[in-house]
Amino acid sequence: MALGSELRIAVLPGDGIGIEVMEACLEVLETLAKKTGIPRLAWNKLPGGAIAYRNTGTALSDEVMKDIGSADAILFGAMGMPDIRYPDGTEIAPQLDIRIEYELYAGVRPIRAIPGAPGPLNDPRSEQIDFVILREQTEGLYYSRGRGVMQDADTALDTLRITRSGCERVFDYAFRLAAQRRKRGWPGNVTCVDKAGVLKSYAFMRHIFEQRSGNFPGFRSACANIDATALNLLLKPWDFDVIVTENMFGDILSDLGAGLIGGMGFAPSGDIGDRHAMFQPCHGTAPDIAGSAKANPTAMFLSAAMMLDWLGEQHGNARLGAAAQILDGAVRGAFAGGKLRPCEFGGRDGTAAITRAVLSELAKA
Ligand SMILES: NC(=O)c1ccc[n+]([C@@H]2O[C@H](COP(=O)([O-])OP(=O)(O)OC[C@H]3O[C@@H](n4cnc5c(N)ncnc54)[C@H](O)[C@@H]3O)[C@@H](O)[C@H]2O)c1
Repeated sequence: MALGSELRIAVLPGDGIGIEVMEACLEVLETLAKKTGIPRLAWNKLPGGAIAYRNTGTALSDEVMKDIGSADAILFGAMGMPDIRYPDGTEIAPQLDIRIEYELYAGVRPIRAIPGAPGPLNDPRSEQIDFVILREQTEGLYYSRGRGVMQDADTALDTLRITRSGCERVFDYAFRLAAQRRKRGWPGNVTCVDKAGVLKSYAFMRHIFEQRSGNFPGFRSACANIDATALNLLLKPWDFDVIVTENMFGDILSDLGAGLIGGMGFAPSGDIGDRHAMFQPCHGTAPDIAGSAKANPTAMFLSAAMMLDWLGEQHGNARLGAAAQILDGAVRGAFAGGKLRPCEFGGRDGTAAITRAVLSELAKA
């Protein structure tokens, strides 16, 4: 795809700390763009979220959804507030609508320790944690969002949907991811996480994984139950490489993964489809700390680095990939040697201090 003089980025700060980490991120990206000579990043700031819904009755307008689709990439903060809900009791979650609208089926969630950042594991190997959770994002149990039924006054039913095509595309993505990671020295192991012994849908998913893995000789593939995986992620997270899993399991495991490397503020993500992609921290709007300047913006910065990397691949532009590396390095430099103590781990450093530290590393790069 030919690259013009600028890249149009749809920016959706959203609610709560989404707004705070986005502001920090745009400052960092502006600085990075000047330094690296990448194409101009033209922000198209768009409204949406739970507060928008409360004020206007619409969480994300049709016009905004259309604008999102015409952007080169989407940068998203976080949306939702626990006490603002649709009449059926579910929350405002336009990020889920965007994933469905633009078929962002691959939820890429790297769980990569940042040496020097505080974490919960008292084991030197925790600095080696570097795996990816690939979450299928268009079906699974969340397929039932908006489709659940009350069978009678006392029984609610939701449907778990697994399709061959939905599985095949995300499994193929998992093996491509494993191939990329292999270039960085990882073994190329892909683990499909399910609960095949209990539900037909997961047994079908496992069957397709086993079939599909035959197309990728040379990669080690395995299947594991979700409960055992939760255990092993805590006991030996450094052993994992690529995990591919169903929508809701991926949602849950990625918070566990974030906890392993110090908290939600360290976990970036990419929601990737064949034509569009959205990048956002794994965390939500954190109403408990919103407005207190305590949010850790690291996950937002790393999501922006993922965006640059993806744009670089899409447009065959090596500068964008190099800029992503520089940003990643600046984040790592900022935490090296335990210089920063984020608030989420009981430290003193909030959004401003972490942003300043990353900007200062960028100045040196
Ligand atoms: N993609 C999204 O927009 C998204 C994702 C998850 C939750 N949500 C929404 O966010 C709201 C709050 O959800 P939740 O409390 O379950 O999850 P959350 O991720 O917002 O917060 C969980 C915990 O992690 C902490 N935390 C999260 N991000 C942090 C950061 N960057 N720095 C420091 N601490 C951080 C919070 O303070 C909280 O204690 C809900 O309305 C939920 O629906 C939105």
